[in-house]
Amino acid sequence: MMDVGRHPRINLQTYSEIDDISGYIGNFHVTVRKKARYVDESECNACGECEKVCPVVAPDEFQEGFSSRKAIYMPFPQAVPSVYILNNDNCLGHNPIACGKCAEVCEKSCIDFDMEDQLVEVDVGAIIVATGMDVYDPTEMDEYGYTRYENVITSMEFERLISAGGPTEGHFMRPTDREVPKRIGFIQCVGSRTKNGRGNPYCSNICCMNTVKDSLLLMDHYPGTEIKVFYIDIRAFGKGFEDLYQRSKQAGVQYIRGVPGEVFEDPKTKNITLTVEDTSSGAIEDHEFDMVVLATGVIPRRDSEIVRKLLSLSRTEDGFFMESHPKLKPVDAPTGGVYFAGCVESPKDVKDSVTQASAAAARSEILLNAGEISVEAITSDLIVDNCTGCGICVRVCPFNAITGGDAKAKIPVEIVEAACKGCGTCAAECNFDAILMKHFEDAQIMAQVDSILDQDPMEKIVVFACNWCSYAGADLAGLSRMQYPSSQRVIRTMCSGRVDSSFILHAFEQGAPIVLVSGCHFADCHYIDANRWTVKRVEKLWDDLEKMGIRPERLQLEWISAAEGQKWTKTMKELEEMRQAVTEEEVEQTKKVLREARLKVEAKKKAKEPKEGAAEQAPAAATA
Ligand code: FES
Repeated sequence: MMDVGRHPRINLQTYSEIDDISGYIGNFHVTVRKKARYVDESECNACGECEKVCPVVAPDEFQEGFSSRKAIYMPFPQAVPSVYILNNDNCLGHNPIACGKCAEVCEKSCIDFDMEDQLVEVDVGAIIVATGMDVYDPTEMDEYGYTRYENVITSMEFERLISAGGPTEGHFMRPTDREVPKRIGFIQCVGSRTKNGRGNPYCSNICCMNTVKDSLLLMDHYPGTEIKVFYIDIRAFGKGFEDLYQRSKQAGVQYIRGVPGEVFEDPKTKNITLTVEDTSSGAIEDHEFDMVVLATGVIPRRDSEIVRKLLSLSRTEDGFFMESHPKLKPVDAPTGGVYFAGCVESPKDVKDSVTQASAAAARSEILLNAGEISVEAITSDLIVDNCTGCGICVRVCPFNAITGGDAKAKIPVEIVEAACKGCGTCAAECNFDAILMKHFEDAQIMAQVDSILDQDPMEKIVVFACNWCSYAGADLAGLSRMQYPSSQRVIRTMCSGRVDSSFILHAFEQGAPIVLVSGCHFADCHYIDANRWTVKRVEKLWDDLEKMGIRPERLQLEWISAAEGQKWTKTMKELEEMRQAVTEEEVEQTKKVLREARLKVEAKKKAKEPKEGAAEQAPAAATA
């Protein structure tokens, strides 16, 4: 951090937040809110005189509340820049009657109670998101007694207690009597790998090795300590980790396979007893400790929704940010020019975070050095004459690639091609045919529908499959030689968001007995959340079909991932059964109803169009 602070080419803005980000890959404009410290950082020499006279005592957040700080304080020992900060919520104010003592003793007059937040504007070409993670709060897991029993602490609190820079200067002691504990129990997977609605279903990745490291640290500092670790299974993958795990066993750490069901405190001794089923022997056992450490899991930052909105990112079901592609672009965000480093993308240890940070720096360097980018040929094009400026496309674009548009003033929208990723949602949602999706134009897709249904339409099922998941799922089924009916005909679109309602209606009008729209599962859509628009569109179509007397079940929507060849096969078998149940009369009736509806719409449109020669005739009539 010190090196970063001193680096001539790095502009470090600490104690700051991002207020706004606009622009796109290579051309981002960022507004940074530099929060008021109430201390002039260019003058403060961290003498500490202000802190000595401050009468306020508040819990020290950095030390997990094990010690206190003043209202004016150094956030943590290695803070960069090394200057004081005044917490306005704690401060008694600069009214001399109330306080103002810090300002009185500061020889350099750095304290400014009237300081205000500053807005700093920066233009950047790439953005690396490294906002980190939060730690699971185990209070809701009442069975472990956290916050009820003082001698039950979290692994983060343990870190502070054993750290040389911590509140006890590295002398490990239990909170109730400040004695060095002789028996310590660690409970693993607190808030991780849970299925009961409390905590999270995923593995937090770092807790096992953190406990192994902590146990060795204890054995090193306090030989002879009795340490027992209660676990589901120890995940010691990674370079040197298994070795470390074996070393801790050899050092005398006992590993008991089982997660305690309950934790009790002896009111007199304040010792903690765990009841656990040792799943390797099946025995129910009680274990008594001086202190218990909960190996709490990692959760996404509680404020990550703000970052998500600022950068149009998407999150996985776990809440971490989703990368562009798990294998091919693991550090890229779906939004061009944005990269990830560290736990913002998934739980990681230090080594993996550094690896990813280096990769993100290299990726952004490639972009900046090139000075220009080549975009995929599949992007949206605006047909300016058709655009009414209604702004639907602006609302549905997951990448903020479409801007402007004013229906009243008849100002068309603008498409930033560099930011467009080609999902096609805008083209599907536009009611005025004002957007042309290159390589996936309406006419091209309609032609595919026509050719599929040209002969024996009753024998066919029209399937719209997104490129990234469902199409790949079909591929997997084929490669795995899975057997399924041959009635389906697949039309590939980049995203299910591209599937325009008119494609589906056209397929039915041409005699398709069944139509399937298929895409990635939610949160897996490669275009952030474009498939949410697919759902809305299909749901509306179900309603419309029902109103027209067409069975909505004939239009199916299914999420099939690239790994779900089996699901693809099963879906095709089910659709085939549905297809066989559709009668020729039903299809003929559908064709008739849809043709009539289409002709009505076309007639209405035509009636609205200005009549040829009307413009020339009007002035003549006025003159007469
Ligand atoms: Fe598959 Fe969007 S990319 S549904």
